[in-house]
Amino acid sequence: MAADNSNTTERLVAAATQLISLLFTTAREQPIRLFFLFIFPLALCGIISIYLLLHLLAPKPRPPYPSEKTYLTTLPSGSISPPKPLPCWYDRWHAEGCLKEQYPTIPPGFDVPDQASIEPAEVEVSVVVPAYNEQDRIEVALEEMVEYLDANFGRGHQQQQHGQEGGGKLLPTLEKPRPGPGTGNVTPSSRPSTPHRLVFKSEGGSFGRAGGEGEGEKKKRPAPQGYEIIVVDDGSKDKTVEVVLNFSKKHHLHDILRVVSLEKNRGKGGSVTHGLRHVRGKYAVFADADGASRFSDLGRLIEGCEDVVDGSNRGVAIGSRAHLVGSEAVVKRSAVRNFLMRSFHFVLMILTPPATSRIRDTQCGFKLFSRAALPHIVPYMHAEGWIFDIEMLMLAESAPATPVLASDGSVIGTSCGIKVAEVPVGWEEVEGSKMNLVGDSVRMAVGLAVLRASWMLGVYRRRLT
Ligand SMILES: *[C@@H]1O[C@H](CO)[C@@H](O)[C@H](O)[C@H]1NC(C)=O
Repeated sequence: MAADNSNTTERLVAAATQLISLLFTTAREQPIRLFFLFIFPLALCGIISIYLLLHLLAPKPRPPYPSEKTYLTTLPSGSISPPKPLPCWYDRWHAEGCLKEQYPTIPPGFDVPDQASIEPAEVEVSVVVPAYNEQDRIEVALEEMVEYLDANFGRGHQQQQHGQEGGGKLLPTLEKPRPGPGTGNVTPSSRPSTPHRLVFKSEGGSFGRAGGEGEGEKKKRPAPQGYEIIVVDDGSKDKTVEVVLNFSKKHHLHDILRVVSLEKNRGKGGSVTHGLRHVRGKYAVFADADGASRFSDLGRLIEGCEDVVDGSNRGVAIGSRAHLVGSEAVVKRSAVRNFLMRSFHFVLMILTPPATSRIRDTQCGFKLFSRAALPHIVPYMHAEGWIFDIEMLMLAESAPATPVLASDGSVIGTSCGIKVAEVPVGWEEVEGSKMNLVGDSVRMAVGLAVLRASWMLGVYRRRLT
């Protein structure tokens, strides 16, 4: 037995020696073959382990709790309403998508606009405000929003139902009669001091929900008017909710200002995504609760969005602070901060697809989406933290192609992705930024790498579940 064993060992050693010397000769004579022998399988193993690692590391958003699908508002009497169910275009869109997966009857090539249709808009603008411990800053920001929105969009249906209660306290512009339902699109001239065009090519067009039937449906439904503000409280530990509800009472924002509270903190990306799933507006915009962006630039965002919408009315406009580079607001910042900003921009350029990497300011908390753009972006969001802006822009860029329509409505081609307009907005550095400079920069860079790799390797996909 012992002799046998040592014999085997000897033979093994000999074989190994032979193999190694064979490798050396191969390496000397044919380096290419060695490459395929070793490097290629090694790389393959590397990619597979990265893929598996990503499955563990990449964040997956949690489903909402039942209480997060309800909202609070103030009643006309001033008291706080009991929780009411929050309208959700996402749920219906998701259910329809699942049905279509079971019964695929849509002709090939035309599934995109069909998949993309969601419930029609009920108001003109929805503002989503993510808020985490913002009791000291949110009131000023809301004040600015409500003043601008009241003056430019009015309170729509609430005005007709509850207009009397507000009485003389409402702004004078609100007392002018508004065109009733059925007069089609509200023309800019009927809205005082509106600085922008508000013409959406025939809502939905021939690719809207259920084609020709939509025309009859549209006549019955009143044109979207007014606005809503959805404050998403990200599990705040301070009195944010109380401050917001007090504000709502003071300004008679019954059912216009809605407060959704997340039971467990999700982060800014999670809050914005949650809010955007429940918007009823023709345009959906999210704005930071610190009021750093000048909210009255909303008109410019809408204009920018209108300039880039495609045949399916999809468009995105993002606020940008790039024009401020070199101005006082930026020069006053510390050198470290500017250096980190520049490094972040460099990492971004390497890690993002071409259209997104050309955007000069991806991080401004003021971004607007046309309603038709939402179902291509919101359902597929994963990032819960600071880099969610970039995921939104990447999703816009990679959105499926849509037919390009000629003026007579015929299809003359396709356009890929959703166009993003970068619009310069006023901006003020506010005290108490929640960014921890070095730590958050590193976390963002790592998060970005994980995000990009997850989309590239198919850990994240555009799918329903
Ligand atoms: C909200 O209003 C109530 C009643 O007016 C007041 O007692 C309370 O202190 C206010 N809360 C905050 C946080 O301002």
